[in-house]
Amino acid sequence: MDGHATPRLAVLASGRGSNLQAILDAIADGRLDARVAGVFGDRPGAVALQRARDAGIPARGLRPRDFAGRREHDAALFAAVDGVEPDFVVCAGYMRLLGAEVLEPWQGRIINIHPSLLPDFKGLDTHARALEAGVAAHGASVHFVTADLDGGPVIAQARVPVLAGDDPDTLAARVLEVEHPLLVATLELLCARRIGLRDGGIELDGKPLAAPLQLASKRLEA
Ligand code: GRF
Repeated sequence: MDGHATPRLAVLASGRGSNLQAILDAIADGRLDARVAGVFGDRPGAVALQRARDAGIPARGLRPRDFAGRREHDAALFAAVDGVEPDFVVCAGYMRLLGAEVLEPWQGRIINIHPSLLPDFKGLDTHARALEAGVAAHGASVHFVTADLDGGPVIAQARVPVLAGDDPDTLAARVLEVEHPLLVATLELLCARRIGLRDGGIELDGKPLAAPLQLASKRLEA
């Protein structure tokens, strides 16, 4: 694409799709110059896919059990992704691991939102584990996806306090509230091609980023 075309996004989602909705709302409001070209997932009945269809966006769920193995499922999923010719792929609550083979061609063009302050609490049940560990702050991270689970370079984070009396649900709700502006703000940078992956690290405006950007009042700061 040339530098002025509106970037096309493919979104991968497994569940309720509130992060997808945040992207769609930001585009509709003119806050994000992008277009969601397709939404894909591993659960055909996922609310996220329905949200896409409601917005007139092609959506497809491919059930893992219909494939011989993870590689075959990954390959079919990414064939569908390629079909909508995206510039970037956004994992927004896609709850399966992606193999190195399908990720390779997307290096630097595929991001994920994870509900913890990475590198803490990779994997599942992050809110319960944060409470168990007794941390004072928790949050969400957006990172470039590599084959290392939740281990790719972190672009941006948003922090929330852990409050007395929190349970995993109250903490998850507080984190989700910052996930949406965090993902949209990160996508603004990515779609404007201001942020990229270089030599395994993050570059912002052509300069190495020493630490993840931090969300403050819905904006990202160094
Ligand atoms: C979010 O907490 C996201 O960070 C995590 O899964 C959840 C998805 O929520 N990976 P939604 O489907 O976007 O509402």
